[in-house]
Amino acid sequence: MTGTTPAVRPANPRFSSGPCAKIPNYSLDMLADAPLGRSHRAAVGKAKLSQAIALTAEILGLPDGYRVGIVPGSDTGAVEMAMWSLLGARGVEILAWESFGEGWVTDAVKQLKLDATVRVAPYGEIVDFALVDFDKDVVFTWNGTTSGVRMANGNAIPANRAGLTICDATSAAFAMELPWDKLDVVTFSWQKVLGGEGAHGVIVLSPRAVERLETYTPAWPLPKIFRMTSKGKLIEGIFKGETINTPSMLAVEDYLVSLKWAQSIGGLKGLVARADANAKAVADFVASRDWIANLAVDPATASTTSVCLKFVDARIVDGDAFAKAVAKRLEKAGVAFDIGAYRDAPAGLRIWCGSTVETADVAALMPWLDWAFNAEIANL
Ligand SMILES: Cc1ncc(COP(=O)(O)O)c(C=O)c1O
Repeated sequence: MTGTTPAVRPANPRFSSGPCAKIPNYSLDMLADAPLGRSHRAAVGKAKLSQAIALTAEILGLPDGYRVGIVPGSDTGAVEMAMWSLLGARGVEILAWESFGEGWVTDAVKQLKLDATVRVAPYGEIVDFALVDFDKDVVFTWNGTTSGVRMANGNAIPANRAGLTICDATSAAFAMELPWDKLDVVTFSWQKVLGGEGAHGVIVLSPRAVERLETYTPAWPLPKIFRMTSKGKLIEGIFKGETINTPSMLAVEDYLVSLKWAQSIGGLKGLVARADANAKAVADFVASRDWIANLAVDPATASTTSVCLKFVDARIVDGDAFAKAVAKRLEKAGVAFDIGAYRDAPAGLRIWCGSTVETADVAALMPWLDWAFNAEIANL
């Protein structure tokens, strides 16, 4: 008994958590204005890069004095550039509640060999921020992409902290409000909420982060692609579009297309509303079924982008095999690509609900979850 096949299919079955769905009605023709074959240091290239920086700051609503840089190595490059450049000046706390946060723990402890306080919560939960000492530098991920658990808000971060807060916000930026006064370094990649391309990262620096860069030299060597200062001064050019090394102007054009689309739908408010509506469509479905649940234990921390679900039906014995079979069935039916849980995460599904995804597509997918679940239960 597989139940009835749903009548409606998602128009776009791309629910991957990265690279994420392109903007609605995307076409490669939109990139026609990319200055291909031209130097990124020519006026035309620099204008594109500085426009990307300006629109990023405008849409995110960055406070005056915050700087935006386009850097190599996607989000990973931006996070590691921050860690390697800033850490070591004072005590460090690293917080993790899923795979990517754990990666930053490894960087701090095993690579930089810092005597850091490490706070880890299991998948589905979040660390207790009340215990964190913000007079130390604190590294954390705003939205744990692989567990679907995010910070509910920044209330636990004191405004007058002595340490820096370094926040990997790659699956949060543009889809969630971020409390900029509580964040000194924020990083993200274009391939997530805006449906852009991998390759480049964005690093946002508060004035306090810049002050640290100009007054502290780490004990370890810094590769050229991490260097944001020269002779003790911030290289301001990086934050005006003079990138450290050669960027892809095709990826930059693609990012500009996404940013302009973001503006056209009402900027940050419009982007956040789309992700919220998408996540709600999943949450409503999950609430009305007793065989599936959100991995996030506390609904206040449930992600509105990388929504992670687990099967909780007592008939399922091998949870991993079951979840994989459901994801495979949905992929084969052409209704949902790439929604298996992350390789290090508990078995289940992960449905990207970021701002480029259409709510109608999320809603159309839900009856297919019933269909695939029932089919796999019948197979047991
Ligand atoms: C929270 C988080 N951090 C870092 C990364 C790595 O991003 P990138 O591949 O853009 O470097 C990801 C990718 O999914 C992520 O979700």
